[in-house]
Amino acid sequence: MALPVHEANLYMTDNELSIQRYRKKAAGYDASAAFTMPLRQRTISLLQLQPGQTVLDVGAGTGLSYQLLCEGVGEQGRVLAFEQSPDMFAFAQQRILQEDWSNVWHVNAPAETVKLPAMPDAVLFNYTHDICRTPVAVANILRQLKPGARIAMAGMKFFPWWTGPLNLLAWLKNRPYNARAADLWEPWSIVASYCEGFEWHSTQWGMGYIASGCYKGTTP
Ligand SMILES: C[S@@+](CC[C@H](N)C(=O)[O-])C[C@H]1O[C@@H](n2cnc3c(N)ncnc32)[C@H](O)[C@@H]1O
Repeated sequence: MALPVHEANLYMTDNELSIQRYRKKAAGYDASAAFTMPLRQRTISLLQLQPGQTVLDVGAGTGLSYQLLCEGVGEQGRVLAFEQSPDMFAFAQQRILQEDWSNVWHVNAPAETVKLPAMPDAVLFNYTHDICRTPVAVANILRQLKPGARIAMAGMKFFPWWTGPLNLLAWLKNRPYNARAADLWEPWSIVASYCEGFEWHSTQWGMGYIASGCYKGTTP
C-alpha cells in the first residue's frame, strides 16, 4: 500500500527527500535562480580563479555556474562538478552538450561518497545548504582538495534572532529546497572549521551570506 506523501517523508533519508524535492524543481530552476546571478558572480570572484586551475562545483544543480567557472580557469584548466539529483543533473548534461565544453567533468553522485578525478585548487559551494550541514559530506569533499585551496560559499541564513518572526519567512523559503531548513543559524560553520582566514558577510538584508577562506589541509 502506498503511503501518503507526508508519512512517506518520515521514512526518507535527507538525500532521498532532497532528490524528491528537486524532481519537482528541476524544470523551473534556472528561471527561479536568475535573480541570484549577480551574487553567483560575486561568490565565484572570491575564488580568484587562475588559468590552468582545477575548480570544483559542489552540488552543481543544472550547471548554472559552469560558464563562469570555465571562463575563470580557461581552456587549459578544468571544471569538476557533482550533483545527486538525476533531474537537475540531466539539465547540466544538456548544457554541456549544447556548449561543447571539453574540460568539464561532472557526475551524478552524492557529496557523501563522490570521488573526484583530480585535486581541486578551488571549490564553490553555491546554495548547497544540505551538503554544508552534513559533516560526512563536507569531510569527503574537503579531504580531496589541495591544501590551501580557496573555498567560496553563498546561501541563505536566518536573520538575527531579535528579528523573531522574520525567521519563519526564512524557514518557509528554504523548506521547499532543503531537508535541513531549520539549521540556518551558521550554515557555513562546518566548512569554516576546515579553513584559515575564513570570513563571512550578510547579503539580502540579512537573509543570506557570502563567505570565503582557504582549506587548512587538515581535519578540525
Ligand atoms: C539550491 S540548488 C543549488 C545548485 C547549484 N549549486 C547552483 O548554484 O545553482 C542545491 C543543489 O544541491 C543538490 N544536493 C543536495 N544534497 C546533495 C548531496 N548530498 N550531494 C550532492 N548534491 C546535493 C541538490 O540536488 C540541488 O541541485
